[in-house]
Amino acid sequence: MSEEEHSATRFVHPGTERDPATGAVIPALYRSVSFHHRDPETPLRYDYSRSGNPTREALERAVALLEGGERAFAFASGNAALASAFLMFQTGDHLIVTRDCQGGTQRMLRAVFARFGLSVSYVDTDDLAALDAALRPETRAVLVENYSNPFLRVTDIPSVAAWGHQHGLMLLVDNTFLTPYLQAPLALGADVVLHSATKMISGHGDVTAGLAAVRGEELAQRLYTVLNAAGAILSPDESYLVLRGLRTLPVRMERAMATAGELARFLGAQPEVASVYYPGLADDPGHAVAARTSRGFGNMVTVRLSREDLVAPFARALRFIEVGAGFGGTSTSISLPPLHCHAALTSEERAERSITLDILRFSIGLEDATDIEEDIRQALDHALAER
Ligand SMILES: Cc1ncc(COP(=O)(O)O)c(C=O)c1O
Repeated sequence: MSEEEHSATRFVHPGTERDPATGAVIPALYRSVSFHHRDPETPLRYDYSRSGNPTREALERAVALLEGGERAFAFASGNAALASAFLMFQTGDHLIVTRDCQGGTQRMLRAVFARFGLSVSYVDTDDLAALDAALRPETRAVLVENYSNPFLRVTDIPSVAAWGHQHGLMLLVDNTFLTPYLQAPLALGADVVLHSATKMISGHGDVTAGLAAVRGEELAQRLYTVLNAAGAILSPDESYLVLRGLRTLPVRMERAMATAGELARFLGAQPEVASVYYPGLADDPGHAVAARTSRGFGNMVTVRLSREDLVAPFARALRFIEVGAGFGGTSTSISLPPLHCHAALTSEERAERSITLDILRFSIGLEDATDIEEDIRQALDHALAER
């Protein structure tokens, strides 16, 4: 079967089912910290759970297979995966990072890694001229967040990979928004792909987790050394839940994505909406690249309202749509970037990036599209009446 045609099948059967010892079709949950070393002359497959745990490894094997990587690693959160990737670099190194990336990445680089001498330039990674301008002799890597956050700008991964490799740089892609179902950055030339599995991958809003998959044995060893030494591992219980989430990722994404396309058009038709950002719209600036490099356009839709004073009454009037920092669960939710995903930025950084209070970032869930539309319309009507 071709990988492309049977992608959903690969998620349902990622090679971790059927325990050879018992025939169990669901991988077992091993909480044991230690593994008995009966014969000290024979090395153990597992010795201590931080270094290797069979449940975490079942997840890691599945992710490596789905991402087409040499190996994959599961971390305690998306930020733990990013921090562990940054720990592969050293004092004096310089990174180029997507300008519109999640606030937590920027806070980590500013508040933690700057103290260890890692410097950063933020650029629009969909602009090769901007990448050229940011390049320094000490630049070691590019971190692309695809799509960018909250404006869903699309980076052409193959072009950036070719550019980066020409300059001897490593390409890391935070692919949280697209998930391994919609895009395979390693196949497009990236060296490391990272995810907050807290979002669509686990998919039910009840797990905090991060993933990384890498190309090549050398990088795999570098990242494993950080994982084992710094220890930001995912627990066996949460590894089990993420693996369960992976099996239904294609069907959840297909459903949420179909609704997101409809919602983007619906939102664009509302008089209170000034702009819609969704790469699935034919007139979106990233549409052609997104269509060429991914299977679909995802379930995130960002809008800018025409008036900032509508936001608070709109949020208060919503019936079932949630408001908050999380996204990628079964329920449709809205983040207000200055208060949620970009709260970690300074007010100057937010102003420079046009991240203002009139922006709503939707994560489309699994409800019926008509119900989501009704909730939005009635909340807008309430907001207009209140003002
Ligand atoms: C694109 C992206 N990467 C990484 C993270 C961090 O993930 P976590 O919250 O699991 O640490 C987030 C969180 O929202 C995110 O949106």
